[in-house]
Amino acid sequence: MRKLFLFLFLFASAGLFAQPLAIIPQPSQISQGEGSFTLSQATTISFDATKPELKSIAAQLNEHLNKFYGITLPLNEKSKPSLSFRLNKSLPGSDEGYLLKVDPKEIVITAKTPAGIFYGVQSLKQMIPVSQNGPLTIPCAEINDQPRFAWRGLHLDVGRHYFPVSFIKKYIDNMAMYKLNTFHWHLTEDQGWRLEINQYPKLTEISSWRDETVVGHAGRSKTYDGVGYGGFYTQKQVKEIVQYAADRFITVVPEIEMPGHSVSVLAAYPELGCTGGPYNVMTTWGVHKDVLCAGKEETFKFLQNVLDEVCELFPSKFIHIGGDECPKDRWKECPDCQKRIKDNGLKDEHELQSYFITRIEKYLNSKGRQIIGWDEILEGGLAPGASVMSWRGIKGGIEAAKQKHNVVMTPGSHLYFDHYQSKETEKEPLAIGGYLPLEQVYSYEPIPEELSADEQKYIMGAQGNVWTEYIPSTKQAEYMVFPRICALAEVVWTPKEKKNFTDFSKRMDTEYVRLYRYGVNYRKP
Ligand code: ACM
Ligand code: ZN
Repeated sequence: MRKLFLFLFLFASAGLFAQPLAIIPQPSQISQGEGSFTLSQATTISFDATKPELKSIAAQLNEHLNKFYGITLPLNEKSKPSLSFRLNKSLPGSDEGYLLKVDPKEIVITAKTPAGIFYGVQSLKQMIPVSQNGPLTIPCAEINDQPRFAWRGLHLDVGRHYFPVSFIKKYIDNMAMYKLNTFHWHLTEDQGWRLEINQYPKLTEISSWRDETVVGHAGRSKTYDGVGYGGFYTQKQVKEIVQYAADRFITVVPEIEMPGHSVSVLAAYPELGCTGGPYNVMTTWGVHKDVLCAGKEETFKFLQNVLDEVCELFPSKFIHIGGDECPKDRWKECPDCQKRIKDNGLKDEHELQSYFITRIEKYLNSKGRQIIGWDEILEGGLAPGASVMSWRGIKGGIEAAKQKHNVVMTPGSHLYFDHYQSKETEKEPLAIGGYLPLEQVYSYEPIPEELSADEQKYIMGAQGNVWTEYIPSTKQAEYMVFPRICALAEVVWTPKEKKNFTDFSKRMDTEYVRLYRYGVNYRKP
């Protein structure tokens, strides 16, 4: 029996049987043919050299092939068998779709836009054998593929813990590999402000540093490590990251939290709080009752100045303005906040929050941007053009879509990657709580049944969130994200009717070997 298996294995690896493809996310349509194309130094990448995006895609593919297979393909050499990138505006379907044809003589990727070509290349990379031993045979196939949703997001909280630029780039690389296109960069928190703002140097001198950090679970621990902690991204680094992401067809959506989760700002600029302080950058996790004062004009002046620089750095259509978990205790007792309520005929502090967000929305709209915020921005009335990120379940998303506002679904029940991956929590690294196994992520359906066909159009997509209170290292961040990112990719890309967890799990067997080779610290199933 063992000999038979060995025999079959050798046959399969020799390319005599069609190797089943293991592409993640599963494409819309695949038809596998017979035979294969062998990729080697004799293959040229052929493309319109006047298109810088195609040149960049070719260079990125070469970087990958060189790193993992030790080969570099020549570019545009006429006499050689080719891997061609072809732009064709009249191709039917989505702008991000592609057609990938592999036959024994050539490989052709056709797409409407460079983004489509890029996604075709990502699929192609997963068709190359994982092992570098032996020929790089790519099974003949025709793949016709396009994404299900426009917003395919992954978030990272760099406020609770800081992650170096090199890691952010690796994170972006891995997102691109799975055809995600939106990196939600959560840059500001009670425990640290991470973005250099030229007009407010104290944000990086003071707000980006905390004196120490709680040890263990904040709900149970009274112990602190006594070690100062901090860091920030310079504007130069941010520009580099935004460009790096753009080269991978990923939009970086920055989040500047307001009016809550802003104690770090108050530590540097106490005049922006209701009580005037003093305040300290938080050293434990949780929701703080000190928030930005909604009554003082200085608060809006500050935020507008900050947002001016944010808009210079980030070309994204959306700016995330936070809006979650803002206790109203201080506003209730603040004369400035109460005056604002009275002067504007507001009913209560919820309407004051709505006033706050609407005012920021107006400002960002005047700069050609749109706001997106956590679902609390529904309370007291949604700002007129605001998009909503539904995190406390899907209720907020449903409500926003019914009000004809765009929505990104990111419910804690299915897409909070800071939750435990096993019920045996003692065998896992300390996490915030919850239980989110791979299958549950996979099972997520972003379109709620409660919505009519018309309302469903407001669901832009979905996103995995990675809050880092209990994720102090890059290694652990990867552990929490992988393999859940793979399941997320199928939630947002693969047609609903094509999703199948058993089939996904089989393809993951190959993917784990890839992730190991790529040096990703995934959680072993
Ligand atoms: C959130 O998890 N506070 C958006
Ligand atoms: Zn106030």
